[in-house]
Amino acid sequence: MSNRDPNRVLIFDTTLRDGEQSPGCSMTQPEKLRMARALAELGVDVIEAGFPVASPGDWEAVHEIAREVRGPIIAGLARCNREDIDKAWSAVRVAARPRIHVFLATSAIHREHKLNMAKEQIIHTAVEGVKYARSLCEDIEFSPEDASRTEPEFLREVVEAAIEAGATTINVPDTVGYTVPEEFHDVFSFLTQNVRGADKVTFSVHCHNDLGMAVANSLAAVRGGARQVECTINGIGERAGNASLEEITMALKVREGIYGLHTGIDTRRLFPTSRLLSSITGMPIPRNKAVVGENAFAHESGIHQHGMLKHHSTYEIMRPHDVGMSRTNLVLGKHSGRAALRERIKELGFELSDAELARVFDDFKSLADKKKELFDGDIEALVLKAETGHEGGPWHLENLHVVSDSTRFATGRVVLRHVDGRILTQESSGDGPVDAALKAIEQATGVFVKLRKFEVRSVSSGEDAQGEAVVTCEYNGRSYRGTSVTTDIVESGVRAFIEVINAIESSRRRGADQSETSPPAAAV
Ligand code: KIV
Ligand code: ZN
Repeated sequence: MSNRDPNRVLIFDTTLRDGEQSPGCSMTQPEKLRMARALAELGVDVIEAGFPVASPGDWEAVHEIAREVRGPIIAGLARCNREDIDKAWSAVRVAARPRIHVFLATSAIHREHKLNMAKEQIIHTAVEGVKYARSLCEDIEFSPEDASRTEPEFLREVVEAAIEAGATTINVPDTVGYTVPEEFHDVFSFLTQNVRGADKVTFSVHCHNDLGMAVANSLAAVRGGARQVECTINGIGERAGNASLEEITMALKVREGIYGLHTGIDTRRLFPTSRLLSSITGMPIPRNKAVVGENAFAHESGIHQHGMLKHHSTYEIMRPHDVGMSRTNLVLGKHSGRAALRERIKELGFELSDAELARVFDDFKSLADKKKELFDGDIEALVLKAETGHEGGPWHLENLHVVSDSTRFATGRVVLRHVDGRILTQESSGDGPVDAALKAIEQATGVFVKLRKFEVRSVSSGEDAQGEAVVTCEYNGRSYRGTSVTTDIVESGVRAFIEVINAIESSRRRGADQSETSPPAAAV
């Protein structure tokens, strides 16, 4: 290993690359930048910002993150060919600390069925790719894709060749989530002890969760000598996902006695970062998700509650505030001032600028007029709305009126304002109030879509709890998503739908609909 602290485990976050690749998780460019900033605040060591050759939109996002985000290394992914490597380098070279991550499959299954390449060709291609990347950039990571199903001896040969060609990090992926902890521990022990040049590089682990063992396999690899773990927020990623960053980090922290290792993660930022990703992607966090789920610190049974009252350590191995989940029963209301709101927002793990706080405070006052008591979930929703910048134009909802009767069609009337000053009023009927209002919006804006998904969930408690709506639609073969939170679920759905229409309008304006390779920034 290089001359850094041998007990430090580097956290390589691939939420914006492997995570974003998974269905329902794609993000717009501003959302990716927002997420990258949050990852830097969280203290990750490396951000894999994307796969620049995949599309001009991907290149732009990686380039912007490389230019704007300071602190972590910014990596771009590339296959082992010059075009990919050039694209990755042109995207990340503006970073203070750029990295090119090249990969090539090595397993017999991939060699035979995907690449149609013999072992010698694999080694040759890997070496050429790594050498070329190294001629551009000092920091090169090489991944033998499907390493866990590669013959160990051949894996050793490829890894040795990649190190000799100039790789500085060797990442060993369990691409298909096939390995088990004992096996992966042995793979890492074997490589770290037998590969020529192993002492010059950092070994990294990258696990998928197909058998639900991504975190366990990553930790076993760490015990076998890995000192970089590749993972994603909330464990999002291809198929069943990648190893979850928050679980890896907390396992290393809570069981430090076993591992004797540490990371640079500010664990109090885990919960806000997890919520931010969920709010951006519209992908809810399961209530029972380890570390950051709603129930992760909830104690329901009488025996447990009794124990907790005596001492929290009876049933809790970590404290909610260790992971930034400082939820309380503290309730804010319309008489609460800006200072109380600022304090609560801070306790919930968010840092807002004065301008953002002012915006959130205005929204807070309007919400407090409708809802007597505001809980943590409400405050979080307001902050996330300000942070994710939802509700951009050109269309804005001025008024919504729906009449619903279980014995006949519902009717909806919307009044929409366009940024160019037009005010349009449209009425329609439909199968329920949401359907009627959405049809009226389509007729008013002239944008007709296929509604694919309409989800509503409560973000806080009580009869007047706010409802978060996530609406996914298809337009011209692409998916678009909108989200909104208000106390009225019909209004939430309507506002989320307007966000979808606005995203379509903005991609039309950019002419992105004509482009074959570049998905519009707002498409999902
Ligand atoms: O799962 C995998 O093998 C990957 C590589 C590109 C590292 O994501
Ligand atoms: Zn992967």
